[in-house]
Amino acid sequence: MAVNLHGRSLLTLKHYTRDEILYLLDLADRVKAERRRGDVHQRFRGKTIALLFEKLSTRTRCAFETAFGEEGGHPVFLSSNDIHLGVKETVEDTARVLGRMFDAIEFRGFDQRTVEALAQYAGVPVYNGLTDLYHPTQVLADLQTLRETTGTLIGKTITYMGDGRNNVARSLMIGCARVGTNFTVVAPESLQPDPESVDECREIAAKSGSGIVVTAAPEEALPGSDAVYTDVWVSMGEEKKSSERMQLLAPYRVTADAMRATGNPQAVFLHCLPAVRGNEVTDEVMDGPQSRIWDQAENRKHTIKALMIATLLA
Ligand code: CP
Ligand code: NVA
Repeated sequence: MAVNLHGRSLLTLKHYTRDEILYLLDLADRVKAERRRGDVHQRFRGKTIALLFEKLSTRTRCAFETAFGEEGGHPVFLSSNDIHLGVKETVEDTARVLGRMFDAIEFRGFDQRTVEALAQYAGVPVYNGLTDLYHPTQVLADLQTLRETTGTLIGKTITYMGDGRNNVARSLMIGCARVGTNFTVVAPESLQPDPESVDECREIAAKSGSGIVVTAAPEEALPGSDAVYTDVWVSMGEEKKSSERMQLLAPYRVTADAMRATGNPQAVFLHCLPAVRGNEVTDEVMDGPQSRIWDQAENRKHTIKALMIATLLA
């Protein structure tokens, strides 16, 4: 059946099928190629998007703003200092108002329930630009980047080293399970993904023929990896946990030795960024020949543009 995403929100990749994700990745490849050729379109002409940010952002904000703006749309950036969201006015009421003025809404913030309430009451597509629980638009870029390097997602293995229970790890586990990519999390026990999420993803993975492995031992996890992925040890909003995390996660730093331990000279290094160099990854790996992090950052824009085209245009 043909994929039709018109009018859909993206709150978590759990709501998207394998075919829908692959459709977005194919479209992202096409808009990336257009941009490289200098093909200019005005697909969002006459449209507006509200970009709501409770947390800081470089890539996500810039990806939404430039992808929408260069296609003739009008993005409006609103930080929590600018609007009443949840303060004085309920999220539901703000959603109703924004839905009357904008064609779409992006939200980055703390509580997943906020983005869900926006989607429920706005009546326009709402995109999750990161919450404490999920970061689905990131994973579209991660999968596009992996597929660009390996040619296929099926049967490849991403090994995620670090804080295995954060928004990026959780979303990546869902995305991989959907598209048939094996996903290994290597993290100390207290920072492994919660068993419910793992079980849920194992069920999804069983249908796509991939597997999910959770371990505390890098030497078990790394051999055979096609990509080694990490994220910051302390996510936004968790700053108080900083010193505890440094201790817990020091053995899980991605170093040149860790890349060698894959036994795969073609293995790539991925990071959603921003990175704290010297914590979760060394400079040598960030700047080394296996690193694909700048492609990955660029692909945020192409995948986000693809998502907006697919959900906003008839
Ligand atoms: N990867 C990512 O979401 O980056 P920003 O926090 O800069 O948006
Ligand atoms: N896990 C990180 C991702 C940043 C893009 C955070 O939530 O801060």
